[in-house]
Amino acid sequence: MTERRLLLVNGPNLNLLGTRQPEVYGTTTLAQIESRVAEVAGQAGLQVRTVQSNHEGVLVDAIHAAAGDCAAIVINPAAYSHTSVAIADALRSVGLPVAEVHLSNIHAREQFRHHSYVSAVAEMVVAGAGPLGYEMAVQYLVERLAR
Ligand code: DQA
Repeated sequence: MTERRLLLVNGPNLNLLGTRQPEVYGTTTLAQIESRVAEVAGQAGLQVRTVQSNHEGVLVDAIHAAAGDCAAIVINPAAYSHTSVAIADALRSVGLPVAEVHLSNIHAREQFRHHSYVSAVAEMVVAGAGPLGYEMAVQYLVERLAR
């Protein structure tokens, strides 16, 4: 049932959360984030499908597969935010509401992180809130889907 499911997409290197540059990304693991997202979405009656990949094409395929299967997408494209026209185009192609999450405040970091191709497709963007940003994204989409 399309309207009962969110797709949670995490891009390259996010599988290493917990040990990866904890001074930037904190110590929460991806498994913990995924489980919290499932909990928050579950409270609103939404299931969550998760994908994490270090490969751009795998992420594009997962986004395509969300068409007709999911109602909305939460995505942290990680480094692909700053480079991938393919991921932005895939999101554009499926036409689902998109919430973009960054654990860190990309605007307070290196210049090359300030631009995200995905932000032009996203309805909402949260950056710098840490793992809480994923919950905010889910909360936004829950309200958005209820409209
Ligand atoms: C990130 C920010 C990106 O610039 C970086 O490449 C990441 C993670 C974040 O969540 O803060 O891998 O998307």
